[in-house]
Amino acid sequence: MRLFIDTGSVREVEEVAAWGVLSGATTNPSLLAKEESGPGEAIKRICELVQGPVSAEVVSRDPKEMVAEGRALRTLHEHVVVKVPFSPAGLTATRELRADGHPVNMTLVFSANQALLSAEAGATYVSCFMGRLDDISVDSTAVLREIVETLRPGGVTSQVLAASLRHPMHVVTAAKLGCEVSTLPYKVFQAMLAHPLTTAGIDKFEADWQSKPEFGQWLEELTSGQAVR
Ligand code: E4P
Repeated sequence: MRLFIDTGSVREVEEVAAWGVLSGATTNPSLLAKEESGPGEAIKRICELVQGPVSAEVVSRDPKEMVAEGRALRTLHEHVVVKVPFSPAGLTATRELRADGHPVNMTLVFSANQALLSAEAGATYVSCFMGRLDDISVDSTAVLREIVETLRPGGVTSQVLAASLRHPMHVVTAAKLGCEVSTLPYKVFQAMLAHPLTTAGIDKFEADWQSKPEFGQWLEELTSGQAVR
């Protein structure tokens, strides 16, 4: 499963991209509205940083305008994926954008039926929002499982993208269910790093190494190419 970052923040993308684990990014109007920079500037910079698909969302509710916005967003950068909210208008716009060769991320999908319609319209990604389902006491794991199981036998090319992830268990669940992509907020990436045994292990290795000062000297010489191996 590939990992995308769900953010409008260039700083967050810079940090996580440096770990070498990012395959793409998703933005939305709410995330971009939190930032100081303009949306175009942020989207372009995020595209440069991740060098992979970056979803940028249309905001119109009219299918023709959605298509026009999508085409315009695609001029920002070759990595832009047009994010389209699920609706009849969104399906129409998806079909047209796909016919033009533009990649589409159908967003705000909350059921297997919506996923089937999105796939049929040609969506490249179908985004199921786990956290928002949990918020209303609907089992997000069951819905995501049903979406994966519904799309797979039909041999559709749409990729299932797990979105609205609130904690590391959502990420593991999405991977186990066979989702192609998960998009994670920065704080979930941070939470995935943490384990007390890792921290304790690093501290112990460092302390034991430093208890032998000659080891440090040897490593320095090895690093600079002067040591006897
Ligand atoms: C997905 O592409 C959305 O931007 C996102 O995951 C929404 O998450 P939220 O429910 O935390 O706002």
